[in-house]
Amino acid sequence: MITNDSSAQIVKDTESLVREKFMDEGTGHDWWHIDRVRKLAIAIAKKEGADPFVTELGALLHDIADHKFHGGSLDIGPATAKSWLEKLNCDPAVVQKVVDIVAQVSFKGAAVKTPMSTLEGECVQDADRMDAIGAIGIARCFAFGGSRDQPIYNPEEETKLHDSFEAYHNSKSSSIGHFYEKLLLLKDRMNTATGKKIAVQRHELMERFLDHFHLEWEGEVKGDSPD
Ligand code: ADP
Ligand code: NI
Repeated sequence: MITNDSSAQIVKDTESLVREKFMDEGTGHDWWHIDRVRKLAIAIAKKEGADPFVTELGALLHDIADHKFHGGSLDIGPATAKSWLEKLNCDPAVVQKVVDIVAQVSFKGAAVKTPMSTLEGECVQDADRMDAIGAIGIARCFAFGGSRDQPIYNPEEETKLHDSFEAYHNSKSSSIGHFYEKLLLLKDRMNTATGKKIAVQRHELMERFLDHFHLEWEGEVKGDSPD
């Protein structure tokens, strides 16, 4: 039987592990991403009636070994989360739910469905996706693009809406291209009512940003015509 004390200790140990591992990460997957996702996931879970312990562990471990940094492997993240939680003697039912969250959470291409099997997973996925849109999402996108030597924009590239994880993983697009292949699609893929509501404003901000970006690319500034 897991007591509240041991739940708190498991969260504390997991937080220390993740904080140390990701503190100086430079691609937008740093500790503060994990911390924002954790806080937002817990807030969404509260509104939606999801279990806070599973939600918090799922959020803390969701990027523990992301496929983007492990040659596209979708197995290493869930396996790492499983062995970590088992080492802490976490309740096997909780371990299974958290492992499922880690396995299911990621975006895998525009035409690839990524359903979550638990309400807790839906809260974590909404929070993770929220951190990919809005002002923070814009900042993270260019941080990631820079880390991959991607151009910020290539007006000659076509938007690709990938229909398999393999195609998505192997494709190379500009950072602005990533808005069209993923970021602008996220608003309509939120799972929870709370997530859908929060996503609206963040989505609008990205649309305004892209408007300005394209105008400036053409040498114009909105509301100001050069003399
Ligand atoms: P997910 O697991 O759903 O991909 P993450 O927490 O790993 O979510 O964060 C993904 C973020 O990484 C994206 O929202 C974006 O900011 C950045 N990213 C991923 N792929 C690209 C890309 N090809 N170009 C620019 N940014 C990218
Ligand atoms: Ni994430």
